[in-house]
Amino acid sequence: MHLHKYEKIWLVFGIASLIVFLSVVGVSAFSQDHTPAGGMETIDPKKVSETAPFDNPGVTQLDDDTYQATIVAMAFGYQAPELKVPVGKEIIFKVTSTDVVHSLTIDNTKVNMMVVPGRITTKSYTFEEPGTYLILCNEYCGTGHHMMYTEIEVYEQ
Ligand code: CUA
Repeated sequence: MHLHKYEKIWLVFGIASLIVFLSVVGVSAFSQDHTPAGGMETIDPKKVSETAPFDNPGVTQLDDDTYQATIVAMAFGYQAPELKVPVGKEIIFKVTSTDVVHSLTIDNTKVNMMVVPGRITTKSYTFEEPGTYLILCNEYCGTGHHMMYTEIEVYEQ
């Protein structure tokens, strides 16, 4: 096969760029100790209902300014009774999945968590405005994906 000189130059340039860019990503990930955005905690997806805190999902108060919302995602819904949290307090969301990849996305906020079976995804968020917020699944998870939603009520104290 005959390659034109310029074609060879471009091929070498392209492959070299690829090696440089992938090295930058790889080296910086390890040297800066990058982890998944939701944390490194793991869980046995078959034992979610027996494993704390998912054996008792819902909202619990940790201290004066902090609440934890524990939610189990599954096809096609979220298991968490009565999601009610106060405005202006830190809410730590802890979410896992029992089956496939879902998301927990809260409309009109910056909360958009990927929920992966075998992993516990954690995100802290403080609601600035009271109201009822829509929670929905943003990862295509099966035939009922479009029906996978719930709500969280943010109340004034
Ligand atoms: Cu769960 Cu889409």
